[in-house]
Order: sequence, then C-alpha cells, then structure tokens
Amino acid sequence: MIEVLNIEKSYGNEKVLKGVSLKILDGEFVSIMGKSGSGKSTLLNILAGFLTADSGEVLWDGEEISSFSGDKMASLRSSKMGFVFQSFKLIPTLNVKDNLLLTATLGKKANAKTLAYVEELAERLGISDMLKKFPDELSGGQCQRCAIIRALAYKPSVIILDEPTGALDSVMESTVMDLLTEINKALETTVIQVTHSKRVAEYGSRIITLKDGEIQDEAVL
Ligand SMILES: Nc1ncnc2c1ncn2[C@@H]1O[C@H](COP(=O)(O)OP(=O)(O)OP(=O)(O)O)[C@@H](O)[C@H]1O
Ligand SMILES: [Mg+2]
Repeated sequence: MIEVLNIEKSYGNEKVLKGVSLKILDGEFVSIMGKSGSGKSTLLNILAGFLTADSGEVLWDGEEISSFSGDKMASLRSSKMGFVFQSFKLIPTLNVKDNLLLTATLGKKANAKTLAYVEELAERLGISDMLKKFPDELSGGQCQRCAIIRALAYKPSVIILDEPTGALDSVMESTVMDLLTEINKALETTVIQVTHSKRVAEYGSRIITLKDGEIQDEAVL
C-alpha cells in the first residue's frame, strides 16, 4: 500500500501542493486528473521519491521513503516501481532494444525470459521493427511506447505513468490501456496514472481530481 499524508510542496512562492493525502491499495488502478499546472506531475514525482515534499509523508508498505538510503531507494526502483515520465527520459545513446531492457537489467545482460517479454510487449505496442533504432529516430508516440515498455519490463508491482497516452493516436491509446488493464488484472500490478483524457481515466477504478494543489474530488467507478 502507498500512503500520501498531508503533502505540501512549493516552488519559490508558488504553493503547488497544499496538503494532499491519499491511499492506494495493492492491485488498485487509480487515475489522477486535473488541469495543466494543478500539481499532478509534482505529486507523482513525490510519490515515487524523485522529488522531496516540504512537509508530509510518503509511505510505501508503511515505510517513509524520504528516510531511505540511496541503496534502498535504488532497490525500491529496481524491484518494485516502474515509472513512465511525462518527458519519456529515454537514453539517447542506447538503441531502442537497450532502452527497453535498461531497468530490467541495469546494465547486465538480459536473460532470455526478460528479452522474450520485452519483445512480446514491443510487438504488441507496434515498435518491434524499431529495436535497432535510436530514440532520436523515433516519433513522439514511438518514444512513449518505448518508455512504457521499459517501465513494465521487469514486472514491477507498482507502475506509475505520467500521461502515458498523451502522444498516441486513439487506436494505440486503446492498445496501451488494454495492456495496462491486463497487467493490472493478471499480475495484480498497482497502476497509478495521470491523464487529461476522461476515456483513459475510466480504465481505472478510481479517479482523483486535483485542483490548484488540492484533491477536489474522488470518484469510485
Ligand atoms: N521544477 C520546477 N520549478 C518551478 N516550478 C515548477 C517546477 N515544476 C513544476 N513547477 C510548477 O508547478 C506547477 C505544477 O506543475 P506540475 O508539473 O505538477 O503540473 P501538472 O498538473 O503535471 O501539469 P500538466 O498537466 O501540464 O503536466 C506549475 O505551475 C509549474 O509551473
Ligand atoms: Mg504533468
């Protein structure tokens, strides 16, 4: 379970999160919505420990992550949490295949099972012809699919996605969302996604709406 307790975060004089609390149970599929600038990415980055809040707590299975050592945080990231950044953050000097395998292998050689899984996901999301290309040879949507597969490659127990379908056409959007739904059901992976699309949000079982740094609404579907 992930618990966010009364998180506050400011950038200079701008208070971006004003006391946000939420609880996400293992195996849940939660969508976070809200206008541009309402604090969604800031909240995801705090939830995942990439950013530190000014006050409040983030607990993963009861443990406060801001107190984690670098090693413990690295182990959380490599064993439990997959994260898809809004800006994808692919490594430009690695080809697509090596980008896809990056989090699963952390520089070590991929085993046959991981390689097969990554190739299966690449096929499913329509980028299997791109494996030898480099990120700057891909379209935005292809980069986005690459970032999603990279985060799923080692079957994390929690996958956090910041606008996972923002660069995709509606057919590919459905393909990605069907894949996430399947993984959520079959592997009981917790899915936490931010989206601007109501259609995409409704794949989740709960929609949390942020407004001006506060939770405005929570709907259970
Ligand atoms: N590193 C930063 N330094 C200063 N201000 C920042 C920084 N990151 C975000 N902000 C500001 O914090 C506010 C919330 O940003 P955030 O990225 O969390 O919004 P968002 O809800 O994800 O928006 P979008 O839907 O456009 O992605 C914005 O006003 C933004 O300008
Ligand atoms: Mg954002």
